[in-house]
Amino acid sequence: MINTAKILSLLIVIILCISCDTEKKEKQKTNEPTTLKDNFKNNFLIGAALSNTQISGADKNAINLLEKEFNSITPENDMKWEQIHPEKDSFYFEIADKYVGLGLKENMHIVGHTLVWHSQLAPWVQNIKDSTELASTIKTHINKVVGRYKGKIDTWDVVNEALNEDGTLRESIFLNVMGEKYIAYAFKLAAHADPNAKLVYNDYNLWKPEKRAGVVRLVKQLQESGVKIDGVGMQAHWSLEGPSIEDIENSIIAYSQLGVKVSFTELDVTVLPNPWDLNGAAVEQSYEQYEGDPKMNPYPVKLTDSAQTQLAKRYQDIFNLFLKHQDKISRVTFWGVNDGSSWLNNWPIQGRTNHPLLFDRQFQQKEAYKTLLNLNN
Ligand code: G3I
Repeated sequence: MINTAKILSLLIVIILCISCDTEKKEKQKTNEPTTLKDNFKNNFLIGAALSNTQISGADKNAINLLEKEFNSITPENDMKWEQIHPEKDSFYFEIADKYVGLGLKENMHIVGHTLVWHSQLAPWVQNIKDSTELASTIKTHINKVVGRYKGKIDTWDVVNEALNEDGTLRESIFLNVMGEKYIAYAFKLAAHADPNAKLVYNDYNLWKPEKRAGVVRLVKQLQESGVKIDGVGMQAHWSLEGPSIEDIENSIIAYSQLGVKVSFTELDVTVLPNPWDLNGAAVEQSYEQYEGDPKMNPYPVKLTDSAQTQLAKRYQDIFNLFLKHQDKISRVTFWGVNDGSSWLNNWPIQGRTNHPLLFDRQFQQKEAYKTLLNLNN
């Protein structure tokens, strides 16, 4: 009798322990981060660039993934001058309104890209030769575009790609017609049009020491003349091999020492060979000769396992650096939602199959994604 009672109570204790343990495990499971934005919520914003097709709602899978994984958006092309202000007296806001509406609905950080850039500029602007006329054109553009989204767009890429690789100012139409004052002018106008928006200088190859020195000069000049600038955007179109973590780190430190935040605004990692890696291929030349060349398109169906692992390792190294300097970094934005929508499928050679992002063409998580989700932060 006693033995039976003892056995019964022992059984009850065992059952309670098992259920308690299962509950604990369930809890651990639900506490585990399940999305990118959740995993990095205490570190920095996680963004994605949206294509025209995605903003217009035609790519439902991309929007579903976006809403689940990301908390910041950037328009890949639809707020560029040629799109939004194609003629002197006509603005086209339809897609940009949809874009901002999507961000507001999902309570995301909304980026405006980009106000003053020599590329994808409307042809009518390119013909302006007079400094006063160009200044008044920039003023109308910034007042109208920034003004329309005042209080809605959180961060503006105010000036894009104003520097050469050696850190000197690029000979753009803006520099040639107005001189270097156009940069401060654009920042002042943006600050006036929306005093609460964060204002960023955005460029590529900002890990390069000479270009880094150019950015430091530019930001200091703005600051010394009392012009508001909140951040430096490092575009981050990188590859499996480079740039080195050390070069990136040196730039993060140099920019943050200026008292501005660093953001990684256009991150992707190409896994394909580039023509300029080949002997004798000059960057300026046309790459049409490589179109359809299987050597330049080694993964037309899917990435090999070893390339997946290499990509995952590269992203892991990059994000470990970002986490190390999280106090200096406000946002990390991927230049696309998934591999299928990446610009790198058509640049620098048309019609290739690149795999530079965290989600594949079927919107499935890649090894790189899983690696980032397991990072200890
Ligand atoms: O819209 C036309 C379409 O009507 C036409 O049929 C088609 C034929 O090629 O071209 C379409 O335009 C393309 C446009 O993207 C929209 O898809 C252009 O050819 C193409 O050159 C353009 O490329 C964009 C590129 O900027 C232009 O410089 C890429 O999508 C976009 O990802 C890229 O983004 C830039 C950032 O804004 C700044 N930093 C560098 C980054 C990569 O170049």
